[in-house]
Amino acid sequence: MSKMKIYEIPEPVLRQKAEKVDAVDDAIRKTLADMLETMYAGNGVGLAANQVGLLKRLVVIDCAGEGEDPAPIKMVNPEIIAHSDNKILHNEGCLSLPREYADVERWETVKVRYTDENGHERTRDTDGLLAIAMQHEIDHLDGILFIDYLSKLKRDKLLTHLEKRRKRESEEE
Ligand code: NI
Repeated sequence: MSKMKIYEIPEPVLRQKAEKVDAVDDAIRKTLADMLETMYAGNGVGLAANQVGLLKRLVVIDCAGEGEDPAPIKMVNPEIIAHSDNKILHNEGCLSLPREYADVERWETVKVRYTDENGHERTRDTDGLLAIAMQHEIDHLDGILFIDYLSKLKRDKLLTHLEKRRKRESEEE
């Protein structure tokens, strides 16, 4: 396995739509394994292929809590096929907007359909952090970021904050 470069805002690939994967082969399995390693290295709970510069509909997620056994989920062509009526507010972050967080409204539960790394179709009912991660990561595949759900004022504030910190950190180097 090898760690990949994580693309951060404003890389255009984060705003593009990823393409459907036709066949799950060794190259796809290798990409999923590398994405998982990259996600763990960045202490993330989810990672979409756009974030490593690939426009393929691939997502990895692991929402296991601290001290729990790893629970990696590798998904090809994931899609939300049903969701609850109600939404909940959760404080989200993203490896492509490092160390910035904001409250975002998401469906409380979602049913996801995807192909696993062996090429088998699966559906999964999710709630809690996993349901939020599913929505966040599947959004990435369509070029959507969590900041898109914020008011312009909040979004601009977050982006300015990120820019200032980057500048400060580059000056310190
Ligand atoms: Ni993200």
